[in-house]
Amino acid sequence: MRILGIESSCDETAVAIYDTSSNKIIAESVASQIETHAKFGGVVPEVASREHLQILPALVDEVLTKGECDWADLDAIAVTAGPGLMGALLVGVTYARSAGLVNDLPVLPVHHMEGHLFAPGLSGEELPAFPFMSLLVSGGHTLLIRVDGLGLYKVIGQTIDDAAGECFDKTARVLNLPYPGGPEISKLAKTGDKTRFQFPRPMLNKKNHDFSFSGLKTAVMYATKANEPLDDQTRADLAACAELAIADVLVKKSMRACQSESIKTLIIAGGVAANETLRTLMQQASEKSGVEVYVPDLKYCTDNAAMIAYVGALRFKQGMEISEDWDANPRWKLEALQP
Ligand code: KG4
Ligand code: ZN
Repeated sequence: MRILGIESSCDETAVAIYDTSSNKIIAESVASQIETHAKFGGVVPEVASREHLQILPALVDEVLTKGECDWADLDAIAVTAGPGLMGALLVGVTYARSAGLVNDLPVLPVHHMEGHLFAPGLSGEELPAFPFMSLLVSGGHTLLIRVDGLGLYKVIGQTIDDAAGECFDKTARVLNLPYPGGPEISKLAKTGDKTRFQFPRPMLNKKNHDFSFSGLKTAVMYATKANEPLDDQTRADLAACAELAIADVLVKKSMRACQSESIKTLIIAGGVAANETLRTLMQQASEKSGVEVYVPDLKYCTDNAAMIAYVGALRFKQGMEISEDWDANPRWKLEALQP
């Protein structure tokens, strides 16, 4: 079975083909709009929709050619139906529906976060056995999810204000770094002294599994003001200490969640899972606690269509009924999904 995956929920237009007989992605492409949005300091929804509209048809053709496939070689289309920006989602969904109609292919709506959840399965290794814990950290979400099966998700912790990725992006803005801030902070942090500033680790002493990141950006702002004009080393030190504070909270709370749910496997996913410090600290904590940690390949941490096609394949394998009764849903809740 060959499934065409389409992703357009935010600022990446992406297309991929997953082949279930070889369990592999046979072709894929991601067109990023980062440069377009960087000059505005963040994603502009209307601009994102227009770019998706311009790029998507050609990107599908490119991926079909790369995969040496014709529409007749495909068995289904999986498309991100939410959550995300409404206009951006509508471009992918409308294209998928039209292509499905013309080529007589079933179209399956996929939840964007469910894509991120299962992205480690794209590395060719077996997915860990259920139940496992997942830390989903992206620009819009910070979630700790207990996964008991495909479609069986229980959110046990989440951010009460900013998402972890948003915190990276906002901290980057304070330090005058371009959007998206995560990779920029990470680059700058490499030469920084991680011990120079003591930034808060919010919610670490709370008994629940929730997070809070809005105070960190403010703490960085005060430290910035106190050290103005910033020299290069101070900027790097601020980046290193902010990055460490975010990663430290994510690691400690994830490990605690695994412990309290008696779970021995943790998956980290979403754009922030690309962060090297987070990956390293998570690995160290794993060795100490015995909780096994799975992370997706770097290119499957940020938004892509391979994860959407892959979840489509898992859903087909599970025998999911294809209904016509669905639409793009910018606020689609992960917990609303069914097995
Ligand atoms: O999952 P994603 O690509 O898009 C959403 O669904 O939001 O995540 C994007 C977020 C951005 O906030 C970006 O700054 C962050 O992931 N990010 C990183 C890194 N790469 C991307 N944060 C920290 N370190 C990175 N290396
Ligand atoms: Zn995402």
